[in-house]
Amino acid sequence: MSDFEAIIYEKRDHLAYVTLNRPKALNAYNIRMRDELFEALGAIRDDTEVRVVILKGAGEKAFCAGADLTEFLSAPPPVFARTARFERDIWKRFSEMRVPFIAAMQGYVLGSGIEMSLYCDIRLCSEDAQFGLPEVTLGIIPAAGGSQTLPRTVRRSAALDMLLSGRWLKAEEALRIKLINRVLPRAQLLAEAEKLAEKIAGYDPAAVIAAKQAVTRGLDASLAEGLQIERRLGLTLTA
Ligand code: COA
Repeated sequence: MSDFEAIIYEKRDHLAYVTLNRPKALNAYNIRMRDELFEALGAIRDDTEVRVVILKGAGEKAFCAGADLTEFLSAPPPVFARTARFERDIWKRFSEMRVPFIAAMQGYVLGSGIEMSLYCDIRLCSEDAQFGLPEVTLGIIPAAGGSQTLPRTVRRSAALDMLLSGRWLKAEEALRIKLINRVLPRAQLLAEAEKLAEKIAGYDPAAVIAAKQAVTRGLDASLAEGLQIERRLGLTLTA
């Protein structure tokens, strides 16, 4: 993992930090970033010391400006096919992470940047953040699950507004539609994310994981099934 270029992976006590690290390209998501993220998420999954993860972007201007358009426009079709397969894997891996992820986002949060944050459990942003899903304006649709994860996070009409119009939202509007949990001054963004992460990391890890599972698994089930899921998970904590 020391060979990483497109991301930085760090651990401190029970916190792990994943930093999207292509600031000159506004942290655009490219094949290398995908492969490195895949490896880092695998390490987090297998590391019982990690209790909370903070996902952030390097530099001042962006969390992530979406898919790398230079790769997107130049990749030949077989590479696209391979990319699609890999992408399914990485987004599946993201969605199966057991410990909580906190996204700390500044500046541009576009396309796969938003989609990545939608796999996180709590989303914080700075006042300068802007959110947009430009895929339809480029003749494509989101490929990292955004058409499914966004309407599960914000209401259907707000999701469709973003997906169909490509309109960008400022931080306050993102907060209003509940895409974001909290908006913070830029200088406090990381410190607040860390404060929250440390607080969660101080709780019983099994209870934290069970609470996340109850919500994420229950959301795709009926209420009756969800209640069963909650009961079963609750029993594992008291057994
Ligand atoms: N893929 C690859 N490179 C990107 C990128 C992307 N998605 N977004 C930005 N960059 C690169 C730019 O090409 C530029 O590189 P350069 O300095 O070598 O010329 C650098 O990042 C800085 O971007 P720039 O456009 O100069 O910054 P800006 O502040 O003027 O504009 C944006 C910022 C986000 C409005 C603009 O970069 C943009 O529209 N990017 C594309 C967003 C997009 O459509 N993403 C795909 C979603 S599916």
